[in-house]
Amino acid sequence: MTFSGFIEPDRTLEALDDPAAKLGIQIYSGYRAVGAAGFLGGQNRIFDRIVTKLQQLNLKYEDQCTGQYYFDLVRTLRDLNGGYDRVAEVGVFMGGSSTFLAGCMEPFEFDLDMIDIHARFLQFAYERVRRLYPEQAARVRLFHGDLPSYVRHVMMKEEGHGYIVHHDGAHDFNQVVKDMASLYYVRESLVAIIAQDTHLRGPIRHMNFVDLALYAVFGTDLKYAAIGASFGANTALTEPNQYEGNYFMPDTPEGLVLPMSANEFRYPHPALSIDDFLPPEASSNGLACTPFAQLERGEEIRRATKTTRSSVAVQTISLQRRNRSLGQSAVSAAGRARSGAHRHVKAGLLSVRIWC
Ligand SMILES: C[S@@+](CC[C@H](N)C(=O)[O-])C[C@H]1O[C@@H](n2cnc3c(N)ncnc32)[C@H](O)[C@@H]1O
Repeated sequence: MTFSGFIEPDRTLEALDDPAAKLGIQIYSGYRAVGAAGFLGGQNRIFDRIVTKLQQLNLKYEDQCTGQYYFDLVRTLRDLNGGYDRVAEVGVFMGGSSTFLAGCMEPFEFDLDMIDIHARFLQFAYERVRRLYPEQAARVRLFHGDLPSYVRHVMMKEEGHGYIVHHDGAHDFNQVVKDMASLYYVRESLVAIIAQDTHLRGPIRHMNFVDLALYAVFGTDLKYAAIGASFGANTALTEPNQYEGNYFMPDTPEGLVLPMSANEFRYPHPALSIDDFLPPEASSNGLACTPFAQLERGEEIRRATKTTRSSVAVQTISLQRRNRSLGQSAVSAAGRARSGAHRHVKAGLLSVRIWC
């Protein structure tokens, strides 16, 4: 499977009752933002129509943003209507934001590119959107890769578009800086950036600093509009959770909208190239090397591999070259890796098997 390129929708999902099961996507909380529709209803016809469709959708999924956030997303697209003709959505998971973006395609006349480093989330989100808006599906493309790759391979090549970038992909400071910095190379076609989880913090290994990455790239005099929910102090959501230890900062907005007419890039230096922000390039046999930063639980793995990173990377690449199918023999080869690298090589292989 191509990494850093468009992929085709998986048509076998269309007939299935439970596409998540086939794709191996585990639904943990089952949280659905549509539950918030009650108090948000009656203010925006386009949002109401999306909610009505969602209420009729017979599909197992979960969302990751608040109902208020999705409401504000629709409102933001309405406010910027006419200035853009393409939305690039970075980080789709099970299609929560995709659903609301797709519901705006027809009224606000734009095409949607969905971007994710995990193909199975792209496939699921597409299938959710297709079931809701079959008439719009042909205007939705799936890009398997990260934002810098999309900038390099799509935005820099397909000129003449006005873009809104919706960012809910990586949350760690380093990758969000790379993502935002890559947009420097297409700044003329960028109308606005919408960033989610700007209130998120967690254990230091996750480096959840989306808001600070925005400041790193656009300066401390960032101009933005706050969107979504914010939570008061001393609520369950502002305390570290039992799973990953993540939490929301009190009284801090869930998302920010950055109009690009009011902001400018303070990073990168013009001497840098878009290629400086890309993940490791394809190896000589055409298979993508495994970027450790992009594994499913990337932060943990990257931190843990710091001391062994080069040996792990070399080992994984050589396994890729030896064994294109990356089946059982590659996994057992990983098992023979020296103990410090063992777990991480296995994690790397899991990811390689997903991507190649
Ligand atoms: C928080 S979820 C997105 C939630 C979704 N927007 C919603 O409304 O429910 C994050 C998604 O970003 C993807 N992701 C993580 N790192 C990424 C990266 N560097 N580039 C693109 N996508 C990434 C993950 O695979 C996951 O699907």
